[in-house]
Amino acid sequence: MKTLIKKKRTISDSDNLVLLFSKNDNLSDFNFTDKELGFINKKCTDNEIIEINQYQRKVFLVNPNKQINSNKYRENCRLIGDKLQIKLNGEKSVMLIDLKHNQEEILLITEGLALANYKFIKHKNHPDRASLETIFLCNRSDKKKIVELQQIVDSVFFTKDLINEPFSHLTAIDLANKAQISGDKSGFKSTVYNKKKIKELNMGGLLAVNKGSIDDPTFTIMEWKPKNTKNKSPLILIGKGIVYDTGGLSLKKTANSMDLMKIDMGGAGTVIGAMQAIASNNLPYYVIGLVPATDNRPSGNAYAPGDVITMHDGTTVEVLNTDAEGRLILADALSFAKKYRPELVIDLATLTGAAVSAIGNYGFVSMQKGAFEDHERLKKIGGIVHERLAEFPFWDDYDKLIESDIADIKNIGGPYAGAITAGKFLAHFTDYPFIHIDMPGVYSKSRYGYRGKGATGMGVRLLYEFVKSRCK
Ligand code: BES
Ligand code: ZN
Ligand code: ZN
Repeated sequence: MKTLIKKKRTISDSDNLVLLFSKNDNLSDFNFTDKELGFINKKCTDNEIIEINQYQRKVFLVNPNKQINSNKYRENCRLIGDKLQIKLNGEKSVMLIDLKHNQEEILLITEGLALANYKFIKHKNHPDRASLETIFLCNRSDKKKIVELQQIVDSVFFTKDLINEPFSHLTAIDLANKAQISGDKSGFKSTVYNKKKIKELNMGGLLAVNKGSIDDPTFTIMEWKPKNTKNKSPLILIGKGIVYDTGGLSLKKTANSMDLMKIDMGGAGTVIGAMQAIASNNLPYYVIGLVPATDNRPSGNAYAPGDVITMHDGTTVEVLNTDAEGRLILADALSFAKKYRPELVIDLATLTGAAVSAIGNYGFVSMQKGAFEDHERLKKIGGIVHERLAEFPFWDDYDKLIESDIADIKNIGGPYAGAITAGKFLAHFTDYPFIHIDMPGVYSKSRYGYRGKGATGMGVRLLYEFVKSRCK
């Protein structure tokens, strides 16, 4: 399913309309009756959206309220787009006309409207009413910005499709194939390592988690290195690709809704979608995406609590809980990343329930090591795109909590600060500037504005805008 965003020159009588206007704008081109004009006049001081139901079309007059800061203003515009999407339910198209000459505002409303239009219907024989097929923008809009927005929206939808897809339809191999298809379409190069290659590389974390599975693991490398790149050493994005997390032998309680754990490749889905957005928009920046992937299941051959495993970089890990599996597969990817001498590595992972308990599904939790300034920039961009980061402390004190009696480190900390000890475990495998993102906001059980219900796609716009900001 795709929502097209297109320019259109002429308005026909039957086009649904959204007019972005302010109080004194001239509405004479739109043939409103005196009664309608009176209604608009009366409503326009306290309403952001005025709805006029005409016989052959719907017309909305929109004037966003002032907000206390620019981030709130931007998000409010996207949310107006979301409200319009609900009101347009069942319609095929709509035309947005900018009477205010405010390019930013119309694009933000379009962004919210387009994003809200997402539906995951591929497994339904009888889907509900269709969503908008096309959003038309008036001739005044900037063609380049429209194309950019279209690519971003497509990438967010792609990420949401990946995350919403159940394990029955998305094994580690399927996930790698999806990355390859996306790369072929948008221009990044992808290489998939199979189990044999993963064994040769001694990726002991990924292999241990995969032991209980009947499917092979994959390790996908995505590379976007355009000729006009601004950076020599790559920026590396790493995504947790646990296509299903039962907890393994440390089995999850079913009451904790194990069905939700199809989203445990949320980090991977976000990284693949961000690579697509970056490549399809031709950002002049050298970026590498790494995705270690497997499911985590109990079986006769599954790895067991108490095991000691040897990781890609030789570190030995005492596995005290097989449900703390994400950090094991990520650790191998983090040490693999060293060979690129990266300028910065960001990992994204649905890593801990502790992060969800701390902030709910409204954003991400983040930590950094040696990347203070990049992290400040990422937080700032998070505010702008409303995919926000809550920074957690990363004090040395926490390092003690992952010391093991019999190996170099163990894979769980104490009863407290679970999101931080998980981050500390990852940091052990890094020797470069590093940002860790734990992703409660990747999923929402109830409808969360234009992000919808289920996979939110949160993180794609954050990474895209972060990379774009580095191109200047
Ligand atoms: N994938 C889970 C974390 C998770 C849970 C993400 C719920 C989103 C929603 C992860 O692999 C996990 O199970 N973590 C454990 C770690 C613990 C055993 C130290 C957790 O958070 O309980
Ligand atoms: Zn787990
Ligand atoms: Zn997990």
